[in-house]
Amino acid sequence: MRTRIEPYRVKVVEPIPFTSIADRERALAAAHWNLFKIPANLVTIDLLTDSGMTAMSAHQWAGLLDGDEAYAGARSFQRFEAVVRTLTGYTHVIPTHQGRAAERLLFEAMLKPGDVVPGNTHFDTTHANLERAGARAVNLPIAAARTPAAEHPFKGDIDLDALAETLARERVPLVIITVTSNGVGGHPVSLANMQAVRALCDKHGARLFLDAARFAENAWLVREREVGLGERTPRDLARAFFELADGCLMSAKKDGLVNIGGFLALRDGALADTLRRDMVLGEGFPTYGGLAGRDLEAMASGLEEVTDPAYLADRIAQVRSLGDRLHAAGVPVMRPTGGHAVYLDSRAFAPHLGPLDLPGQAIVCALYRLAGIRSCEIGQLMKGHSGPGGTPEGAVDLDLVRLAIPRRVYTCCHLDYVAEAVELLYAARSELTPFEIIEQPPALRHFGAKLRPRAPR
Ligand code: F0G
Repeated sequence: MRTRIEPYRVKVVEPIPFTSIADRERALAAAHWNLFKIPANLVTIDLLTDSGMTAMSAHQWAGLLDGDEAYAGARSFQRFEAVVRTLTGYTHVIPTHQGRAAERLLFEAMLKPGDVVPGNTHFDTTHANLERAGARAVNLPIAAARTPAAEHPFKGDIDLDALAETLARERVPLVIITVTSNGVGGHPVSLANMQAVRALCDKHGARLFLDAARFAENAWLVREREVGLGERTPRDLARAFFELADGCLMSAKKDGLVNIGGFLALRDGALADTLRRDMVLGEGFPTYGGLAGRDLEAMASGLEEVTDPAYLADRIAQVRSLGDRLHAAGVPVMRPTGGHAVYLDSRAFAPHLGPLDLPGQAIVCALYRLAGIRSCEIGQLMKGHSGPGGTPEGAVDLDLVRLAIPRRVYTCCHLDYVAEAVELLYAARSELTPFEIIEQPPALRHFGAKLRPRAPR
């Protein structure tokens, strides 16, 4: 059979809101054209993020009742710890309330001012937490990652020459490889690249950690794309990545298939003791880490379910079918489609707008107005800033709009609706108007900025 069907059936339904264009125009004005400020009950299809929006399985929901809420040493912790040990091979497992808490704990324990931490491309919270710990976060993606239209199977790979040079020149206690690389389009990292990174870290005495938020999607894409690995199971391939690293940081809100949760797992017992000691004031006791026992149960089950080949085949095919349909319609999308999202190339989509006209923001607002679809600008608004001494803002490298697909939430019909809306918007792209920022917070400005459309110059 050629028809792809979801490898699950629906047991619980949640109505989605439908609104009129007039409702959405009012909502946009009230939110100062910032989609983070639109109430979710005015969003028909929410593609702002794939994080924490997962639909849990019947097994996970059943596990919630079985959660052991003991303060210390709960049965749910023991199960969670066993699942993570089996998956990763790491001895020490430390739960945290989400990924960024794991980042903060690890970096505060490991880094000193002046350290440099290279990566294939750090996620924004990782970047901000590294700099908060006094380190310099350095992104070293391969050159192909900077060209949205380039067909390269492993745009998540790190530039090995640049990494070798950085390791030789700087004080580097830690290298982080993010799988898949969210910062460049959800593209996978190849096992060959990971092996080469391990060898470089060994040569220079640096630790290597995985940001494993989307480890299972990475494993599936490696299985599909890397020569000679097509027969290996996703679980086995994921394990191969974990084995090459000294530990991992995890936001379980992605491939943990849960709505909240995260963890650190590592081999070094002394470092784990430091982390367990440090976390008590912020995250809580080391056997619950800011989570309820039921959350640990749900995470344990999610980590078991996520490497199911039937699940991953469908997940990756669903995202790819949206990307391929848009590509076939001539819409400029990041190629090839990665693991968790389809990215529009904002500047190619709206070539009549300049980079500082915030073309990505024009697209996300117009897509919401047209069809009630919420997407996320990852471009000038999110990453732009003025230069040292207040020099004017320059254009950022890549200006993208992310259509992130939550796991097990939307059906193929929902995504057909999204594709139709994007195609309609693309056909009317000459009507997209420039945007300007009228107020912005000093850091992470996209969350709080107020904007308005402005007349073309
Ligand atoms: N690392 C990666 C690669 C991520 O994508 C995220 C979150 C984090 C770490 C932080 O984890 O949210 O649990 O604290 N990414 C979300 C996104 C927010 O929309 O891509 P967290």
